[in-house]
Amino acid sequence: MRKNYAVIGDPIQHSMSPVMHNDLFQFYGLDAEMKKIHIKKEQFESGINKLREMNISGFNVTVPHKQAIIPFLDELDPLSKAIGAVNTVVCEDGKWIGYNTDGEGYLKGLLKQFPDVKQTRTLIIGSGGAARGIYFTLAHYGVQQIDICNRTLSKAEALKEACPYPVNTTIMETTQAEKKLGEYGLVIQTTSIGMSPNIDASPIQMSNLMDGTFVSDIIYNPSETKILMDAKAKGAIIQNGIDMFIYQGALAFEKWQRIFPDTERMRQNVLAQLGGLSC
Ligand code: ATR
Repeated sequence: MRKNYAVIGDPIQHSMSPVMHNDLFQFYGLDAEMKKIHIKKEQFESGINKLREMNISGFNVTVPHKQAIIPFLDELDPLSKAIGAVNTVVCEDGKWIGYNTDGEGYLKGLLKQFPDVKQTRTLIIGSGGAARGIYFTLAHYGVQQIDICNRTLSKAEALKEACPYPVNTTIMETTQAEKKLGEYGLVIQTTSIGMSPNIDASPIQMSNLMDGTFVSDIIYNPSETKILMDAKAKGAIIQNGIDMFIYQGALAFEKWQRIFPDTERMRQNVLAQLGGLSC
């Protein structure tokens, strides 16, 4: 019998997850299909009830429902509980189990290009939901020093306080981070600044960046944000957000199918959808 999967969000039209997963279902000979389901914030509960009626096998959760889904779950894995957000739900034997593959997807994509992360002094720019997932996941993995800069210092402080894993963290203003930039081996940009169409914006000045620093942006449209262009000009190694997107999807696929999929195939598929953007 065909298994039903979904990605839920508001808006949902832009989601690339169905094309990515449907291609994998076909590639691995699985009788399964993923659909986009638009669930509005104010109709969340009735939308979730419809998913139950569909006899769904699993679903991805995107903005703005990653926290709202939690009360509807039977189980929550410890990392997603700490992060307080779920992007992947496995529906098995009548139970809904929540996971967060965003942070882990980010880490997996990072490790592929930058294996020495544990010993590397790291700076996270931003303190929103995406920063939270990445910060907690890196701390859980064992990265020892992760500093945070953010426009609103209180939000960065709150993030530090909420982290349940041992890690050394200094909170600072962006201007202070700009001065200290040369101390970092890894810089992670987690805000929406620089995302299309505001491609000329950058959250931080890169003039003090060290040659050879790894600079990673979770944005993938454009494929090279202003911060990545500035970093490249200073001799940095750069990574955009495509790896994070691919690996969060690969980890969700693994949770649903118990197969870790071909991420190179996924990359080609995502790049084709993005209209030939390089990464
Ligand atoms: P997400 O869940 O996608 O991470 P979010 O929770 O809205 O989104 O967080 C957005 C992050 O981008 C925050 O760190 C935010 O800074 P504040 O905490 O000060 O709001 C940052 N951000 C967004 N727009 C910004 C801007 N124009 N200048 C500086 N920081 C900005």
